[in-house]
Amino acid sequence: MIDLIKKLPKAELHLHIEGSLEPELMFRLAKKNQVEIPYKSIEDVRNAYNFTNLQTFLDIYYAGANVLLTKEDFYDLTWEYILKCVEDNVIHTEIFFDPQTHTERGVPFEAVITGIKEALADAKEKYGITSCIIMCFLRHLSQAEAFETLEEALKFKNDIIGVGLDSSELGNPPSKFKEVFKKAKDEGFKLVAHAGEEADFSYIYEALDLLNINRIDHGVQSIKSPELMQRLKIEQMPLTVCPNSNIELKVFETYKEHNIKELLDYGLNISVNSDDPAYFKGYINQNFINLHENLPITEEDIITLVKNSFRSAFIDDELKEAYLAKVDLALQ
Ligand code: ADE
Ligand code: ZN
Repeated sequence: MIDLIKKLPKAELHLHIEGSLEPELMFRLAKKNQVEIPYKSIEDVRNAYNFTNLQTFLDIYYAGANVLLTKEDFYDLTWEYILKCVEDNVIHTEIFFDPQTHTERGVPFEAVITGIKEALADAKEKYGITSCIIMCFLRHLSQAEAFETLEEALKFKNDIIGVGLDSSELGNPPSKFKEVFKKAKDEGFKLVAHAGEEADFSYIYEALDLLNINRIDHGVQSIKSPELMQRLKIEQMPLTVCPNSNIELKVFETYKEHNIKELLDYGLNISVNSDDPAYFKGYINQNFINLHENLPITEEDIITLVKNSFRSAFIDDELKEAYLAKVDLALQ
């Protein structure tokens, strides 16, 4: 099974580039940029990664992002993630970034997007990896601030395929961002939103009905509503599930309690993703391996999950078919 996991080409659809900041790079950039970080050693960092919920993670994650200042820093961050893609056989990736985390600190939007974009262009040239960039609004900030961010993003419209919604979910429902998502849709962006990660399934309904999203990030709380489950199945609405993340953030107490197998068996369109791999103990293959080691996941399930990742990607049908054919070839 582990051989199968490793050899299958995959797409990753839910990856926060700031969440791929490994402690080693954090230390290097802190030193270079003379930014203080609250850790003495790499071991110290790893010990701090002991979360009790989403917010305890976010506090540490935003503090870590403080070391990112220049275009080169964002290039290096993205390039290191690309090297993990090469290792894990990820051939297409759709990367989230949180511009507000950086513009709030005085880092220009342009430095962030250009650093990421140049690394992705090199990834295509050197490894043939295709990619898209999705800009997320921080939901703990206001809709007015999201509008300002969208305005800045319009200058880089050709580089950004979609917009998303992340950060502190509880108390910040999708309805708070209804108008800015409408504007983003009118501008031609694809739409995604974190919904039903920690908060209840009403957030998933809001994301579907008020934001008109094309994919749900996480969405694991949908299991509590039979009516929603049926709708998600009929619409084949993609759910980008992140198993390691859900365990590290205590959405499920143990891996054995994770509901991905139930969601999949019900017929939902589920993919596996790493979310913030530097913080959640592993990249995409490790997520698959943990599923295999803890749940009655079959080889057929793995193949379905991988094929779903390509079917749900923001790429044209021709490329989708070519990638699905690559999966079939790897299976022969
Ligand atoms: N930002 C980075 N990772 C996140 C997650 N899992 N949920 C919400 N916001 C995030
Ligand atoms: Zn996420």
